Amino acid sequence: MPTCESWKPALYRDSDECREMSHLDDILFVERSAFGQDTEAELTRKLLNDPSAKPLLSLLAFKDDKAVGHILFTKARLTETPKTASIAILAPLAIVPDYQKQGIGGKLIERGLQILSKSGIDLVFVLGHPEYYPRHGFQPAGRLGFKPPYPIPEKHADAWMVQALRSEVIGSVGGKVICADVLNKPEYWRE
Ligand SMILES: CC(C)(COP(=O)(O)OP(=O)(O)OC[C@H]1O[C@@H](n2cnc3c(N)ncnc32)[C@H](O)[C@@H]1OP(=O)(O)O)[C@@H](O)C(=O)NCCC(=O)NCCS
Repeated sequence: MPTCESWKPALYRDSDECREMSHLDDILFVERSAFGQDTEAELTRKLLNDPSAKPLLSLLAFKDDKAVGHILFTKARLTETPKTASIAILAPLAIVPDYQKQGIGGKLIERGLQILSKSGIDLVFVLGHPEYYPRHGFQPAGRLGFKPPYPIPEKHADAWMVQALRSEVIGSVGGKVICADVLNKPEYWRE
């Protein structure tokens, strides 16, 4: 079974590598393959060039020199809170279909969270599959006092999730999450 042995941080917190077309091509290929459409690839391309999304963390997973997975974390901020925290949003996560269900998505999440933790990020948010992300430590964010950038329909409320990278943060902060400008459109928050 293929494993994801080599981790190549293609783009790391504003690195100049962000401008290397080979990496951008790999990222867009992975996003298009995983989602079967252009929407997420286009969103990713715009986010990589959005100053309000930085610093960002973008990791590609390779198998035998082929890009098979990509994860992006972008900067966000908390408002409506007396006490602030350093936060990021995970979006998108994409694995090429032939390489799904081999643990690559999980490894990208874990590697990303490790790097963000070392970078001083306190909380990571995601709007995604509520059966998938809790496997990697995420929990519903609404009931912990974190509002998404746009209201999410009640039946999908648990898709808005958070993970604390510092134990003392949950319970001591809350508020509304403001995301990067490119992501700050209602159509990205309908789930
Ligand atoms: C969702 C996705 C990122 C998961 O990545 P992956 O590398 O296939 O996942 P992993 O190998 O780490 O984990 C596989 C496990 O998660 C489960 N899983 C995968 N997608 C899931 C989903 N949407 N909902 C619930 N469980 C899911 C698999 O069934 C598998 O379970 P098992 O271990 O019991 O067999 C990948 O399938 C993908 O790119 N999908 C298309 C794009 C997408 O939906 N991205 C996420 C947007 S929130």
